Amino acid sequence: MSRVHLEINGAVAEMRLDNPGKLNALTTGMLQMIADHCAGIEQNPDIRVVLLTAEAGKAFCAGADITEWAELSAARFARHWVREGHRVFDRLARLSRPVIAVLNGHALGGGLELAAACDIRVMAPTATIALPEARVGIVPGWSGTQRLARLLPEPVVREMALFGRRIPAERAHALGFVAEVAEDPYRAALDIANAATGLSPRATETGKYMIGAGAAEDRAAMIEALGAAAISASDDRNEGVGAFLEKRPPEFSGL
Ligand code: COA
Repeated sequence: MSRVHLEINGAVAEMRLDNPGKLNALTTGMLQMIADHCAGIEQNPDIRVVLLTAEAGKAFCAGADITEWAELSAARFARHWVREGHRVFDRLARLSRPVIAVLNGHALGGGLELAAACDIRVMAPTATIALPEARVGIVPGWSGTQRLARLLPEPVVREMALFGRRIPAERAHALGFVAEVAEDPYRAALDIANAATGLSPRATETGKYMIGAGAAEDRAAMIEALGAAAISASDDRNEGVGAFLEKRPPEFSGL
């Protein structure tokens, strides 16, 4: 059965893809589980860092489950797969906690797009990244031509999407897409995560929004989130809410 597990160990949460019979390919059920786990993580103040991992095997994730979308009409494919995938991947990309993708195997198609929605990536030396969609007659649909193209040089995205070339771990590292190549990427990611748990969660959250806004990661939503955070930290909010609850007019101090 395809699943995504969530385990919490102290300040580090681990979301783990589990569909090994299909190289951890993503089903719509798994997409929904990722969204649900993101919502759960946001509610848990103890979590400081998130790892996105996958069951051991040849692939971290071999993309969208081809058998699930193969029979869909064009309209349902666009509506249920592409747009639903965007919703979930955007949710992950905008998670308030830093997220590390642990690429213990190949990250292909949707698997690569999923890794691109994380903040940093750690990769096994034998793993590769690729956009093999053209081989099955489609195009990258979960931001492989958009978000991924902001993280990698555009010619490299073209190399993968238009020529079907795979990029090995060392090259992905040299391009800055991967933070570290390690024989045991899980251990390496855990070390990075543990070292980050002592950082100010407010500073990392704000920094993540600011970097996201600069990188056009839904700039309007990021600006709104930053503005809302700033105003809600002001005395005016306390006064406004207090006045509302006490059924009196608010008295805001001058600037
Ligand atoms: N969706 C559904 N099933 C998938 C899958 C996917 N994206 N990727 C792999 N699988 C399944 C295979 O069908 C196979 O199932 P089976 O054992 O029931 O036949 C199993 O996972 C193992 O894959 P297999 O192809 O036998 O392994 P391989 O080592 O020969 O090849 C890949 C590995 C990754 C090259 C190959 O599986 C592949 O090309 N997968 C599709 C990748 C892709 O196009 N992703 C984008 C999808 S939009």
